[in-house]
Amino acid sequence: MLRIAQTLEAQLRAAMQQAFPEADGELNPALGPASKPEFGDFQANGALALAKPLKQAPRQIAAAIVEQLRNSPEFSALAEAPDIAGPGFINITLKPSVLAAEVRQRIGDPRLGVAAVEQAEAPVIVDFSSPNIAKEMHVGHLRSTIIGDCLARVLEFRGHQVLRLNHVGDWGTQFGMLITHLKQVAPEALNTADAIDLGDLVAFYREAKKRFDDDEAFQTTSREEVVKLQGGDATSLKAWGLLCDQSRREFQKIYDRLDIRLSERGESFYNPQLPAVVDDLRDSGLLVTDEGAGCVFLEGVVGKEGKPLPLIVQKSDGGFNYATTDLAAIRYRLGAAGDGAERVIYVTDAGQAAHFAGVFQVAKRAGWVPAAASLEHVPFGLVQGDDGKKLKTRAGDTVRLKDLLDEAVERAQADLRRRLEEEERQESDSFIDQVATTVGLAAVKYADLSTNRITNYQFSFERMLALTGNTAPYLLYAVVRISGIARKGGALDGELPEQLVFEEPQEWALIRQLLQLDAVISEVESDLLPNRLCTYLFELSQSFNRFYDQVPVLKADEPMRSSRLALCRLAADTLKLGLSLLGIPSLERM
Ligand code: ARG
Repeated sequence: MLRIAQTLEAQLRAAMQQAFPEADGELNPALGPASKPEFGDFQANGALALAKPLKQAPRQIAAAIVEQLRNSPEFSALAEAPDIAGPGFINITLKPSVLAAEVRQRIGDPRLGVAAVEQAEAPVIVDFSSPNIAKEMHVGHLRSTIIGDCLARVLEFRGHQVLRLNHVGDWGTQFGMLITHLKQVAPEALNTADAIDLGDLVAFYREAKKRFDDDEAFQTTSREEVVKLQGGDATSLKAWGLLCDQSRREFQKIYDRLDIRLSERGESFYNPQLPAVVDDLRDSGLLVTDEGAGCVFLEGVVGKEGKPLPLIVQKSDGGFNYATTDLAAIRYRLGAAGDGAERVIYVTDAGQAAHFAGVFQVAKRAGWVPAAASLEHVPFGLVQGDDGKKLKTRAGDTVRLKDLLDEAVERAQADLRRRLEEEERQESDSFIDQVATTVGLAAVKYADLSTNRITNYQFSFERMLALTGNTAPYLLYAVVRISGIARKGGALDGELPEQLVFEEPQEWALIRQLLQLDAVISEVESDLLPNRLCTYLFELSQSFNRFYDQVPVLKADEPMRSSRLALCRLAADTLKLGLSLLGIPSLERM
């Protein structure tokens, strides 16, 4: 309905101009969706802002605008005569024929009315997932992976050229420690692929970190190892490569299971660019040496004693850090010699908000961010267990992603088997496997996407696998229900009748919901909040279920029968598209 909204907006503006030529320049129709379904489709609040400059009562102003609209044949072709409500809101209800024509246009349209952006645009980068080598991927990375993938899918569907970048932590001091430690305890891991498995690698990393913290000699050797590696020493590089490969393969297993596409461009990629970043900052006069470290003092960010806080870009030992790498990444991603991107989206936990605010500020002050480009941090809250505390296994360990996904699928399978028994249905093992896998993984993704990402989120297998409520199984079931109509003889892709005929309130409610898709997608594109899309799909499923429970479809007479089947089809297509943008495949039966 975005296109209709635009047309109405222009008509309202013209009506305002005609009614109040003297108020030119301040005319804003302030058009938005109606606040309640009984108020129609749209609400224009522009009369209120005119009250002061025109020194008239807002209702009177609204009446004059409505008068103009009533006289406009273009407006009358779209909408019923508008009502004035409250202090001067103009309520607009679209004509049934207009809504029916919109429905008709969407049937069989693969984009379902969602416009594509103009081509030949600069790429949009989504920086997400980004686990660290030699450390296990944890639930925070899972959130980043799921949210980032959904945002990338939405942007891709809108027609943007999206670069999905995995900013893997594959460089830095952790390798110095790890190599030093492995040389002593498992030297084979440094020259033979797969000599140890990732679980062991993580354990070795923990041991190395402990030794690094406790043992000064170990620290010194580790630092020397880092210098060797960063200096390009062949043996160190080979060991580093083997360790990265091993982690990478483990990460890939998770990505494959979740159907996530990502291009790896880890921190090491920017290594050769780091000295130039610091040189540039020095040349532009931003770099200050403080206690031997190269830093930029942040504007508007003060520490405890009211002192401005620095962003350190070069440690006193000459080494670079996480911030330096992110500055290099910005320079490269936005620069014409690099990606030339127009928008960079970073999906990480909210704990990194200060890091990104600092890095973005410095990049802007250094002149690396063109006016048309934007850098956006998309923060998310912590994953908590049922008890509201940090998610842990019963034994108190961190939860391994593989175990978490396995458990979701196992539980989905147990639920399914129970349901099949109750319904006395026989299904093959391969059917059960496929449904359980889809439902289990969908539940994990959807639980994450459907909560507002800013808040912490409580992980609960029971809640996410429930067949009722705002859950993946509920949505998947709505799709299955519609597929069932086709199996009962209601061809969903049959010929459309000459005229689509709708008469029941449940039909209109469903239609209005269906026509919101383009507005919702455009909101997710700008606000980067996937839960908006989830809420929409949930409400759409509810509207569909109300319609299907209360209005006969297969038993209705023509042309109602075909019209209602067309609504069923559009509902199924909208749900499937929406789910696919969340990274969730649909099922025909479950
Ligand atoms: N590797 C980091 C972590 O595990 C996330 C990196 C996010 N991306 C970035 N450009 N800093 O927390």
